[in-house]
Amino acid sequence: MIGLLMRRTSFPKNQIKVLLLENIHPLALEAFQAEGFQVEALSVALNEDELKEKLKDVHVLGIRSKTQITDAALKNASRLLTIGCFCIGTNQVDLRAAKMKGIPVFNAPFGNTRSVAEMTLAEIICLARQLGQRNSEMHQKVWKKISNGCFEVRGKTLGIIGYGHIGSQVSTLAEGLGLRVLFFDIISKLPLGNAKSCNSLNELFKESDFVTLHVPATPQTEKMMDTPEFRAMKKGSYLINASRGTVVEIPALVEALKSGHLAGAALDVFPEEPEKNSNDFYTDLQKIPNVILTPHIGGATEEAQANIGTEVPAALIRFVNSGSTSGSVNFPSVDLTPNAGTNRILNVHKNVPGVLSKITRIVSDLGANIEIQ
Ligand code: NAI
Repeated sequence: MIGLLMRRTSFPKNQIKVLLLENIHPLALEAFQAEGFQVEALSVALNEDELKEKLKDVHVLGIRSKTQITDAALKNASRLLTIGCFCIGTNQVDLRAAKMKGIPVFNAPFGNTRSVAEMTLAEIICLARQLGQRNSEMHQKVWKKISNGCFEVRGKTLGIIGYGHIGSQVSTLAEGLGLRVLFFDIISKLPLGNAKSCNSLNELFKESDFVTLHVPATPQTEKMMDTPEFRAMKKGSYLINASRGTVVEIPALVEALKSGHLAGAALDVFPEEPEKNSNDFYTDLQKIPNVILTPHIGGATEEAQANIGTEVPAALIRFVNSGSTSGSVNFPSVDLTPNAGTNRILNVHKNVPGVLSKITRIVSDLGANIEIQ
């Protein structure tokens, strides 16, 4: 904290340039404009070469999941202070490269939690009642009134893999529907309601009528659902994946469904997803009965977009104005309370000797006093 600097902010706000890509919610634009920042909003993602050029004079960058922020893309981004991912995942950003350049990255960890949880619940019922299939038959003029292989979900067991924000929300909603809930997480988690923690995946598979995945994409979760896991699932059970496409080995799932071992599956995410809505999409899961396929829309609701459109700018503005890195995914959390009448310097350096003494000298040469360090 440095007292005695002339201006309330060390850099004029109207010279702070914000670049928003990929059609970010208008609420974000409004939040930055209300702060007095300059905002440019584009509806598209930019590629590496375009980013190298465009980021030369940008201070704040907002992206969604399509823009890949590589080390090379940040080559000319010498003014870039921070990056906001207007989504949950941050795999599209080279977080280490950003950290080495002193750029904290923020995301929206809770913005679409509820949306994904609600869709998961809807899919559980749709699978149990074969609603996807009946719907497409009716659209093809087929009236097929059957009850064989259609079930209530009440009293059935739901196994949740990954008991984080979404998994635990699914747990609460599922109990409201009368499902019994088991979960497995690599971290010890407080069970909500009557949910029961399992010690292993196999313990969960053995009892679950529905298995739903809510884990992040990590080396450990890559293909965590493969042939041995499908074999360990109960005969006639169902799989739901609205987490990441890398988690499920698709050929193994196809085999488990075609052999009749699994009674159905709902997939919202895929190992390879089209870049644009206009691109065709192919998967070996197409045309398999009782398979619900959706185009990565688990978190895609008006409410989630609005939540994200306010949550991320709030974090970015707080960082620009006060140096708070609380909630950043690649920086230690620094969050000092504001101190009236002082200015703050956030210094990120490469842990070499002598930097702090140089900063102290600059400050004292300005005739300012360091109140807190
Ligand atoms: P979170 O970080 O709150 O929870 C993830 C949980 O998985 C944590 O509790 C973690 O300990 C656990 N976990 C990690 N590795 C594990 C492993 N090997 N085995 C068991 N548990 C493991 O994340 P959140 O917000 O609940 O999101 C979950 C997933 O949902 C993420 O992959 C995210 O990308 C995806 N997602 C998908 C959306 C969609 O549109 N379909 C929208 C939002 C999120």
